[in-house]
Amino acid sequence: MPVDIAEPEGKALILPGTICKAYNLCMAKEDLSLVYDRDMIDARVATLATEITREYKNLNPILISVLKGSVIFFSDLIRRLDFGIELDFIRLASYGPHTKTSGEVNIIYDVTLDIEGRHVLLVEDIIDTGLTVKKALDHLNKRGPASIKLCVLIDKPWQRLTPVEAAYTGFTAPDRFLVGYGLDYAERYRNLPEIYALEK
Ligand code: IMP
Ligand code: MG
Repeated sequence: MPVDIAEPEGKALILPGTICKAYNLCMAKEDLSLVYDRDMIDARVATLATEITREYKNLNPILISVLKGSVIFFSDLIRRLDFGIELDFIRLASYGPHTKTSGEVNIIYDVTLDIEGRHVLLVEDIIDTGLTVKKALDHLNKRGPASIKLCVLIDKPWQRLTPVEAAYTGFTAPDRFLVGYGLDYAERYRNLPEIYALEK
């Protein structure tokens, strides 16, 4: 039986052991439980695209994907936007254990477009402590964008170390470590089409 978890958007399914039935992941060292299936992800991405279209349709925005985790979400999202946008990428690294962000976050690949005076939407996979996205927002804000907002696929608001709010949120997730649909554990599982929780 799936366990219901109350959430503002998109109810998490927790289906233990589903990965074994869905894929032949002989390399998988961890047990994974299905949390968001393809239909749930597609529906949320479509809704976010509608909301973003409403706000940005006439603004010729720059959408910035935070590498690597957001690329799958980003590519699904932008293909649902039927107005003029420009794309860029930023990559940050934090040093610490595989499942936690440490205090120190560095920019290791920077945007190449000039964002001064432009409307910017930063697209991230997950906000957990908030440290990664705070660093990116502070960095980009110094370049004088006309506006900058955040779109995040998954918000995990349970362990925030700094206050950050997304203008657009796909799912508010349980406090679990998630993989798939771009999200990794030690660089694995990014290519899973659904989102799973890593079991201890
Ligand atoms: P924060 O700096 O703690 O907010 O963490 C954000 C970054 O850590 C994200 O960009 C993710 O790459 C990674 N991260 C946080 N939680 C998870 C998770 O549950 N699965 C995979 N990556 C995560
Ligand atoms: Mg990331």
